[in-house]
Amino acid sequence: MSKIDRREFLKRSGALLAAGSLPLTLVDVAFGKASTDDFTFAYISDSHLTHLKGKQFVRNWDRGLIRAVAEANLMDPRPDFFFYGGDIAQLGKPEEIDHGLEILGALRGNVHYVMGEHDYYLDLGEHWRKRLGPDHYSFDHKGVHFVVLNSIKTFDDWTYNKWPSAAERMHQMARLDNPQGSPFMVGDKQRAWLKDDLDKVSKDTPLVVMSHSPLQKIYKGWNFWTDDAEQIQALLKPFRKVNVLYGHVHQIQTNQIGNISFNAAMATSWPWPYPATYKQQASYMPKLTVNMNRADPFFERDATGWQFINMHTGRVDVNYRLPGNQNRVVAWDDKAGHPDDTQFQDAADRIPPQTHY
Ligand SMILES: [Fe+2]
Ligand SMILES: [Fe+2]
Repeated sequence: MSKIDRREFLKRSGALLAAGSLPLTLVDVAFGKASTDDFTFAYISDSHLTHLKGKQFVRNWDRGLIRAVAEANLMDPRPDFFFYGGDIAQLGKPEEIDHGLEILGALRGNVHYVMGEHDYYLDLGEHWRKRLGPDHYSFDHKGVHFVVLNSIKTFDDWTYNKWPSAAERMHQMARLDNPQGSPFMVGDKQRAWLKDDLDKVSKDTPLVVMSHSPLQKIYKGWNFWTDDAEQIQALLKPFRKVNVLYGHVHQIQTNQIGNISFNAAMATSWPWPYPATYKQQASYMPKLTVNMNRADPFFERDATGWQFINMHTGRVDVNYRLPGNQNRVVAWDDKAGHPDDTQFQDAADRIPPQTHY
């Protein structure tokens, strides 16, 4: 894609989606290579489809995913493929996973899946793997090496010995503020696999690593956290251009640790607020100019949104489209060597907290 084509692509995609409020991420991978190697992929995450009874599911979460799929199918030019970032289900039920895959089956293109904790802790991923195959894998696409990890595993003792039933285990891990939970991790076995996989890849090859939880330590109390993050980062360190994309946090996050850029996708379901302990200066988290409210049950898309991710020369520029707020841009700053907020809503324009009673 030439520069002019790219500008046109951004314009067309933006025009198509600006009117909507869809939690869809479109990723443009350029990496400064020959124009034939440029490509895009889309990213949809965290739908949390919730089974009620019989054929009934919570409508709000269904609608978010249905709309994201519909808009993804309208994109022009078409993305080369799609990623689903995890948490298809709310409580890991086979009905929820099947329902999600039926909706996602309407996507016109290949979909790569990431395992979320809400998909896992009822049957330890059995139904998910039966429908979708391995929970960690890699592939190459037009000169870029993609790696998918299952980052939501935890200690065997917690998983196998602590709970009277699988449902109780699932309920504990499904909570946000969860003193009974256990930190997520990739684990020894998968890290050994990752090392083997990366040993075969040239260090000049751009890497895109997909995980559900952030492969960094943000906030342990809410499991915005991967316990063996440093060990994974050490395996990614020899590569010149590394991008980690993740779901799980249902909010805008961006960070730079050494050579690794981190970016989160927003959810199709609901937003999480920012933990009060975020250390923005140290970690280059975005400025908190907009207080994120908890999801408003009277507005099904409240504080969800979608991002356009532009990965020129291997670095990530994220264009966030936020309904009810000014769009914001977190762009790679070449001089500073980390992503920076370049466009955001003035704090004076902050939307006041919502009251309904
Ligand atoms: Fe989630
Ligand atoms: Fe999650």
